[in-house]
Amino acid sequence: MREGEIMQISGGKFVITGGASLIGSHVADRLLAEGAGEVVLLDNFSLGTPETVAHLDGEPRVRLVKGDILRINELYDAFKGAVGVFAIAGFLTLPLSQNPPLGLAVNVEGQVNVFEACRYAGVGKVIFSSSIAAYGEPEGDGVIDEMSPANLASYQPGSMLYSCTKLIGEALCKLYSQKHGVDAVALRYSTVYGERQHYRGVNALYIIQNYDRIMRGEAPSLPGDGSEVHDYIHVADVARANVMAMASDVTAEVFNVVSGVETTVKRIAEILLEIAGSDLQPVYADEVGAVKATSSASLKLSREKIRAAIGWEPEVSVEAGVRRLTDWLRSKS
Ligand SMILES: NC(=O)c1ccc[n+]([C@@H]2O[C@H](COP(=O)([O-])OP(=O)(O)OC[C@H]3O[C@@H](n4cnc5c(N)ncnc54)[C@H](O)[C@@H]3O)[C@@H](O)[C@H]2O)c1
Repeated sequence: MREGEIMQISGGKFVITGGASLIGSHVADRLLAEGAGEVVLLDNFSLGTPETVAHLDGEPRVRLVKGDILRINELYDAFKGAVGVFAIAGFLTLPLSQNPPLGLAVNVEGQVNVFEACRYAGVGKVIFSSSIAAYGEPEGDGVIDEMSPANLASYQPGSMLYSCTKLIGEALCKLYSQKHGVDAVALRYSTVYGERQHYRGVNALYIIQNYDRIMRGEAPSLPGDGSEVHDYIHVADVARANVMAMASDVTAEVFNVVSGVETTVKRIAEILLEIAGSDLQPVYADEVGAVKATSSASLKLSREKIRAAIGWEPEVSVEAGVRRLTDWLRSKS
């Protein structure tokens, strides 16, 4: 895209790698709501399933394509004529820790393939799903913005590997933007949760596993004294950030996509108990050997840069978002 040019979402063709994911399915919803002409959901269904996007069955503008980002030849056809690609396919810390050879290949080699196929097919812009894992373990209680350095030394090995793959993805965004004519923006999400939630996100497990426990009549289980905080961002806000970043003229930038709100895991349990109308009391138990992203008592993430650059701000509070998630779970059972 030429400098200063704003991309039209309406009528355009977009590809979502990892289209059967939690985040990809919501990006698809958002693109369709904004009038996209064609949305290709490309996924090899190694983690996500077609059920995640079953609500789009029969939508004439949606094409579900079985394809693997590790096989670049499977990307060329899908990318032909696309104005933008949402690079969402990837292995989170949990699946990457379980299968390092495949997780690293998908997150690194697969991502290079996505950029190469974009260059070959003349795709104008890529929005890459990065993570606040790129910062590593927060040090002290200062505000974390996009200029904050990565603190990886004290990170668990699985989280460290995941973090490194996201930093590589971000570097690819800059490289392809500056040298190879493919605009690219990296979005660093905090803990994403919402309707169509899976069990692969370590910090979102505090929501979904505790909901399951409460539904079984068991007390929610929390680590330590429950004061560990996370930044929970609803998936609809994440999807809106993706589409706004695509439509903007911004390139070669990294943005936090976070709520900016510290929520303790104890508060998550309270919200779930309130929703369920339950008087159970949380139990406190550390799970030995659990894979964790961060376990800090402070996580002050700034969302100022993306607000100033493209005007994005979150709209869904954690209370409203958890209710949306539990409503969805109830509607399935
Ligand atoms: N969920 C979060 O809290 C969170 C936070 C920060 C960043 N992210 C990033 O956002 C992206 C999506 O997250 P999610 O929670 O929706 O994940 P998800 O696990 O639901 O989706 C990942 C998708 O990628 C697909 N995939 C895996 N390997 C593939 C391959 N070789 N070819 C094609 N598709 C492949 C999977 O089948 C799955 O549908 C990931 O890159 C993740 O690292 C997520």
